[in-house]
Amino acid sequence: MPLSGKKVFFANYVFYVPENVYEPSEDSFLFAENLDIREGETVLDMGTGCGILGVIAAEKAAKVVAVDINPYAVRCAKRNAEVNGVTDKIFFLQGDLFAPIKNEEEFDLILFNAPYLPSEIDEGDAWLSRAWAGGASGRRMIDRFICEVPCYLKMNGRVLLLQSVLSGVDETSQEFRKHGLRAEVITKRDLPLFETIVLVRATC
Ligand SMILES: C[S@@+](CC[C@H](N)C(=O)[O-])C[C@H]1O[C@@H](n2cnc3c(N)ncnc32)[C@H](O)[C@@H]1O
Repeated sequence: MPLSGKKVFFANYVFYVPENVYEPSEDSFLFAENLDIREGETVLDMGTGCGILGVIAAEKAAKVVAVDINPYAVRCAKRNAEVNGVTDKIFFLQGDLFAPIKNEEEFDLILFNAPYLPSEIDEGDAWLSRAWAGGASGRRMIDRFICEVPCYLKMNGRVLLLQSVLSGVDETSQEFRKHGLRAEVITKRDLPLFETIVLVRATC
């Protein structure tokens, strides 16, 4: 397949992003700058988009599984894994959150740059809306993710979740606590138009 779409650079990586796939933005870059992958870890990149986080993680990780509900994103991320030379360590699955993960597989680290913005209930099913729209509270996908993520974490595993303050950071800490994890904000960034994004780390 020919390489098409916008070219996005991060560090020494390049990502091709077609129009129906989320283009890496401030949230992706803040996340990528704060990825703390340890040599030999297994990583799940939930909502991989063009593959930016999974591809970077694959440099140190033993294995990365990358999931997206958007079939165009999965195709695009596969191509970006090839372009960046990490195909031997990264595997792609299309589906809804953890549904495609089989055999009770567990990971050392689970990443999710979630669709986190409050949106009209009926924002539509377009692939790009699904990348950012989090329902009326912004928490539709965040809460589902937090509820399911403990089943896929190894003992002493950790979660990195990126969201906006507009979708409630205290609620995220409470939800993690309810499901047996401790959460803390490890970094944040102010964006134009009164929005701040935060990266939350949760541990067992
Ligand atoms: C904000 S984008 C992040 C993309 C990429 N990780 C990045 O940092 O640039 C959110 C991604 O989650 C995916 N997504 C939305 N709902 C999902 C679901 N139910 N299951 C899996 N992926 C989903 C979207 O298609 C989109 O690629």
